[in-house]
Amino acid sequence: MSEVDLRPKPACESYSEMTEIVLPSHTNPLGTAFGGQVMAWIDICAGIAAQRHARQVVVTASMDDLHFRSPIHQGEFVVLKAQVNRSFRTSMEVGVRVEAENPLSGERRHCSSAYLTFVALDVHGARVPIPPLIPETDDEKRRYKEAEERRRYRLERKNLERDVVRRAHAPLSKESEAAQ
Ligand SMILES: CC(C)(COP(=O)(O)OP(=O)(O)OC[C@H]1O[C@@H](n2cnc3c(N)ncnc32)[C@H](O)[C@@H]1OP(=O)(O)O)[C@@H](O)C(=O)NCCC(=O)NCCS
Repeated sequence: MSEVDLRPKPACESYSEMTEIVLPSHTNPLGTAFGGQVMAWIDICAGIAAQRHARQVVVTASMDDLHFRSPIHQGEFVVLKAQVNRSFRTSMEVGVRVEAENPLSGERRHCSSAYLTFVALDVHGARVPIPPLIPETDDEKRRYKEAEERRRYRLERKNLERDVVRRAHAPLSKESEAAQ
């Protein structure tokens, strides 16, 4: 198996951009794009950025809360831009900006922003380390700093949710059974 190259890489090396067109098969009865379709495009664009950084197979570990600010209409172009914000040990945060483009005027509007975490895996499905990321521009440095805060928050939420599920599946104690 080839050695993993762990030399630090500039953030811009992971930059990925995709353009889609909203076809009738992508729309709801109002003629605007399904949220799930936009999420799938976000996942693909972010996954390409993650693989460009890691040069390993990656899987989506999570997508943070996603808000759709404006509907995207049938026939409009959907422009997605993704870049790795920060890498950790085996995981990395990718930011994606989604814009709708009017195909006649070229006017663009911001529709959504998303943060996803990808984890790099080897052929056996075991996690592998990834290269550190070098933020260069002011925006990249800001995103790099904020990514640490978001990571702390999302891992706290993950642990909280795990506790809630564990409690929901715990056998009832004698006292709580008696109280029912
Ligand atoms: C993602 C996955 C590899 C994590 O495995 P795990 O055993 O839970 O891993 P750990 O808890 O040891 O964490 C490994 C890394 O992932 C990160 N991570 C794990 N769960 C995460 C989550 N929900 N959100 C963000 N990061 C997460 C950890 O912070 C850690 O990062 P680090 O190595 O950079 O410090 C595993 O849960 C998995 O394979 N999930 C299914 C992925 C998949 O199929 N995705 C497609 C969509 S269904």
